[in-house]
Amino acid sequence: MTGSTLQACSACTACDLATTRQTVVISRGNPKADLMLIGEAPGAQEDAQGIPFVGRSGRALDQLLRDVDLDPEHDIYICNAIKCRPPNNRRPKKAELAACRAWLDLQLEAVHPKVIVLTGATAVEAILGIKGGMTQLRGQWQSWNGRSVMPIFHPSYLLRNPSKAVGAPLDLTRQDLDAVRRRLCER
Ligand code: URA
Ligand code: SF4
Repeated sequence: MTGSTLQACSACTACDLATTRQTVVISRGNPKADLMLIGEAPGAQEDAQGIPFVGRSGRALDQLLRDVDLDPEHDIYICNAIKCRPPNNRRPKKAELAACRAWLDLQLEAVHPKVIVLTGATAVEAILGIKGGMTQLRGQWQSWNGRSVMPIFHPSYLLRNPSKAVGAPLDLTRQDLDAVRRRLCER
């Protein structure tokens, strides 16, 4: 996004979340990356710092990326379906997702990623319009506007399910991200 678009997004009041947020949380990482990750919405830490995925979930996410040899600074652009924190971290409402979609579309247009990773059911529903459990959806390549899309478990779910066993959610997520890394190498 250009400077003036970023400025406009930072001052957006298109939905009610504008009245309770501290900061509009737009992105981190590399805007020229071939890979874009879309999460749900900012939490408390993100709202305070104005950067997505900087709390516990974010640290877990960065570790998973490094585990499969992806550099969180250079190989990926990270954002959320919703740019402002919902009060008490409740799930974003349909109207809020709809209001914020224009910003997400501008990000998708500007970054033009080859591969998109969707973390958690809210991001999957926002982009693909599919409702369902992540246990069924994760690990299955989808297509959206000619891009490869990989749904994965949300890092906050992985923090609640920390088993290191083979076939546990953490292991499956590493497999999914490894498939993403391999897809990025294909031309
Ligand atoms: N969870 C998300 O979905 N996004 C963030 O930015 C932080 C936590
Ligand atoms: Fe604007 Fe999105 Fe924030 Fe709502 S959540 S005020 S649409 S930036």
